[in-house]
Formats: sequence, structure tokens, C-alpha cells
Amino acid sequence: MKMHGPRLSLIVAISENRGIGKNNELPWKLKAELKHFANLTKATNNPDKKNAVLMGRKTWESIPEKFRPLKDRINIVLTSNPNLIQDESVCVCPNFSTAMDLLDNMADEIETCWVIGGSSVYAESLKSSQLNSLYITKIHQNFDCDTFFPVIPSEWKMTNDPKVTSEIQEENGIKYQYEVYTR
Ligand SMILES: NC(=O)c1ccc[n+]([C@@H]2O[C@H](COP(=O)([O-])OP(=O)(O)OC[C@H]3O[C@@H](n4cnc5c(N)ncnc54)[C@H](OP(=O)(O)O)[C@@H]3O)[C@@H](O)[C@H]2O)c1
Repeated sequence: MKMHGPRLSLIVAISENRGIGKNNELPWKLKAELKHFANLTKATNNPDKKNAVLMGRKTWESIPEKFRPLKDRINIVLTSNPNLIQDESVCVCPNFSTAMDLLDNMADEIETCWVIGGSSVYAESLKSSQLNSLYITKIHQNFDCDTFFPVIPSEWKMTNDPKVTSEIQEENGIKYQYEVYTR
């Protein structure tokens, strides 16, 4: 029987026009939202385990050098160019299924693997039966973007997670709200 790997969750901030990025940066500056991302992606129930973050090569490059690899989390980067990242603490995978195999093999160490973008990695994870939950920050504004989130398939239904407030947040005049989906 196949071993169950770590939980797979997805986390993203999306503008009203479904944008997630512009010029390989976030289109907005929301400090508390980034803190929410850090808190959720670091938190484990089992203190002996860590979480992982799974991302595409451009998302890796979009993280300022001084903040990468994202600390206290196992960083997994998808790229067709295995020599791109020299940092030995980063797991570089040539495709999504290799990343899933890696997670299965590290199930003793990893509690949750968070899919953190970008577009194609989100799309691929939404097709995976292993994906458990979506943590979406809905930003109540349009932004000029060049990278977008796929349409959320209708099987995903909004739910409550006691760890996440559903109250409207506001920073720099930008209103946003945390939403959690399961299927
Ligand atoms: N709002 C948010 O929550 C959020 C989250 C994440 C990112 N972003 C934004 O999104 C933008 C970056 O995302 P993006 O969609 O442009 O790029 P991305 O998905 O981060 O990176 C794309 C690259 O990842 C590699 N890759 C992706 N899927 C792969 C697979 N299945 N197998 C092997 N390699 C794979 C390829 O790298 P190679 O070309 O090296 O082969 C591909 O060119 C930035 O603007 C960033 O700020 C926003």
C-alpha cells in the first residue's frame, strides 16, 4: 500500500481581477498579510516536524535573497535547470511528481507541504487529488498584474478554520479577507 505523504495545502493572495504578480513581484505591499503567510506556513501540530514550501523557479527568484530559503521550512523549488540553485539546503525537483515522491520519502519529517506558487504550480496542484485545502487571501481591489491564479474548480467549498479570522482586514487603504476552502 502507498504511504500517505504529508498534507498538501495551497496558499495565495489574489486580487479582484485574479492577479497574483507583476514583474516577478507582488503587486501590493501588505505586511500583515505576509506575516499571516509566514505564520501559517511555519505552524505545525507536531513540534518534531517542519513544513515544506513548494514553489516554481520564478517565485523562488521573487523572494529577496536575504529571505531565502524561507526559514524554518523545507524549501522545494521546481525547475528544469537543476544547476540554477547552488544552495544545498534547497530541494530542487525537475517536475511535480518528483516533488510528491520526495514528500512521501520525507513524511517522517514534514507535516504539511504548502504550495506557494506561481501560476503553473498552483494549476498543477489543483489537479492533484493530494491537495487538501486552499488558504486564499481575497484582496478587494483590482491590480495591474501579469500573472494570474487559475479559476478555482467548483468542487472547492468555503469553510471555517479557527486559526484564520474571516473579518475584513485593512492595510494601506487596501481591504482584504482570508478564506479557507476544502472539497
Ligand atoms: N500573490 C501570491 O500569493 C503569489 C504567490 C507566488 C508567486 N506570486 C507572484 O507570481 C509571480 C511568479 O510566478 P510565475 O507563475 O510567473 O512563475 P513560477 O510558477 O513561480 O515559476 C515558473 C517556473 O517554475 C518552473 N516550473 C513550474 N512548474 C514546473 C514543473 N511542473 N516542472 C518543472 N519546473 C516547473 C519552471 O522553471 P524553469 O524555467 O527554470 O524550468 C517555470 O519557468 C511573481 O510575480 C510572484 O511575485 C504571487
